[in-house]
Amino acid sequence: MPLPPRVSIVGASGALGQGLARRWAAAGIPLALGSREASRAQAAAAEVTAAVPGADMEFGENATAAEASPVVAVAVPFAAQAQTYKSIADALAPGTIVLDATVPLATAVGGKPTRTLGVWQGSAAQQAAELVPEGVSVVSALHTVSAAMLADPGHRALRR
Ligand SMILES: NC(=O)c1ccc[n+]([C@@H]2O[C@H](COP(=O)([O-])OP(=O)(O)OC[C@H]3O[C@@H](n4cnc5c(N)ncnc54)[C@H](OP(=O)(O)O)[C@@H]3O)[C@@H](O)[C@H]2O)c1
Repeated sequence: MPLPPRVSIVGASGALGQGLARRWAAAGIPLALGSREASRAQAAAAEVTAAVPGADMEFGENATAAEASPVVAVAVPFAAQAQTYKSIADALAPGTIVLDATVPLATAVGGKPTRTLGVWQGSAAQQAAELVPEGVSVVSALHTVSAAMLADPGHRALRR
């Protein structure tokens, strides 16, 4: 059976990035983990490999990770969303599918985590769509998938 395509995770050192990485690694999906700092991506990869021995894992700065795969998940806080897309835009080849999980929480402006902000473009994903090069698709997903649940390998809803 052919290997599934590699999936990149931008913001892989964070709660959601780590959870997704562990679940996808456990499902046999090759990964490329990214961070603003290559050393944090390396640490994130080490954590996933400890949880899923033998996982196929590359790591590097966010742009390096983003150019490694046809599918790129972006898991960064709303406050960092625009700057993150600007940092990876040149690395996104035409045909890439970007999976954006950003929830525009009011914490981005010092507000409550139970509230969201209005986004001028309509949604965080629509903001992302404005920031990717032509030929790159943005899918809005995973907003209600809990990182804590992903981190619990025994969670029934996510067990393989
Ligand atoms: N946590 C959840 O359960 C959950 C569920 C669904 C959706 N989401 C959404 O997914 C996104 C990521 O959530 P998360 O909980 O994983 O976030 P997080 O742990 O706070 O941050 C994820 C990563 O973003 C990077 N980052 C880039 N710029 C940053 C900045 N200015 N400030 C702080 N971190 C920055 C950091 O990686 P480096 O420092 O290594 O670059 C950090 O490890 C958010 O938009 C959130 O709303 C979260």
